[in-house]
Amino acid sequence: MTFRGRHLLGIEQLAPDEIRALLDVAEDYAAFNRQPMRRRDTLAGMTVITLFYEPSTRTQASFELAGKRLGADVMTMAVAVSSVKKGETLIDTALTLNAMRPDLIIVRHPASGAVNLLASKVDCAVVNAGDGRHEHPTQALLDALTIRRRKGRLHRLTVAICGDIAHSRVARSNILLLGKLENRIRLVGPPTLIPAGARELGCEVAHDMAEGLADADVVMMLRLQKERMDGAFIPSEREYYHRYGLDAAKLAHARPDAIVMHPGPMNRGVEIDGTLADDINRSVIQDQVEMGVAVRMAALDLLARNLRAARAGAAGAAHA
Ligand code: NCD
Repeated sequence: MTFRGRHLLGIEQLAPDEIRALLDVAEDYAAFNRQPMRRRDTLAGMTVITLFYEPSTRTQASFELAGKRLGADVMTMAVAVSSVKKGETLIDTALTLNAMRPDLIIVRHPASGAVNLLASKVDCAVVNAGDGRHEHPTQALLDALTIRRRKGRLHRLTVAICGDIAHSRVARSNILLLGKLENRIRLVGPPTLIPAGARELGCEVAHDMAEGLADADVVMMLRLQKERMDGAFIPSEREYYHRYGLDAAKLAHARPDAIVMHPGPMNRGVEIDGTLADDINRSVIQDQVEMGVAVRMAALDLLARNLRAARAGAAGAAHA
């Protein structure tokens, strides 16, 4: 057993062997999920709560499915109609839920660091489903699994991450993960959307798609995250699409077998051409969604094993 964490808060805390271990387990779940009977009792008797303070389609749905396929009781907190609307703080909500003795809480929150804070207040395992512009570890892991399956390896690849890097937790978690496994990472976008410190993170930077995509094995596109922008970062969406929107002509600068990725939600005609996004010969966007369920099953499974081991250890110590 090489996955050691009590929580899954970020890629930053994971060692390369933990990443590989999680992806190996996820690979088994990917095969399992293609069978007609997709139900196990790995998490039977356990309670999983999802608590999302920001909109979500893929992440929330796949965590819920992952929990259910593993036999857990899954409760989806409808934050928009909860006491959060009456002014309850994140920590008070967390302590309330904690008193109901869940085993795992999956949290998405607009503030960077909020999920780490919550994890320090509760007894259960916590999974970060995206906190501000900080981390989104399961997205980076599902991207890694998708790349590994398509490229046959997860090292010595050239990965171009393009668009709004500055506001993206997906980019940050991917940079950390791909960097730990010795890949070449290029951040491509207008200067206003490239974070300060990109080079210190070991990334190359390009402000031009032709230069940024040259020899890329993987082209990862990101949405303009307007909800995290204060002010105007681009002159217009039309001009942005012209310079940075991925279409067949710009993709021609990458390797002929380069794959196109996007975490979703996608804005067709802004960061990516709709026809290219649907081209199953180049785009692996639907694979990413499929791998999302497998990776989240692996994460829940491994965290539940560690939780059980910790509880058994605590019970043993109490008897001694
Ligand atoms: C991303 C997120 O929420 O960070 N979406 C996702 O989880 N698939 C990316 C985004 O919102 O643009």
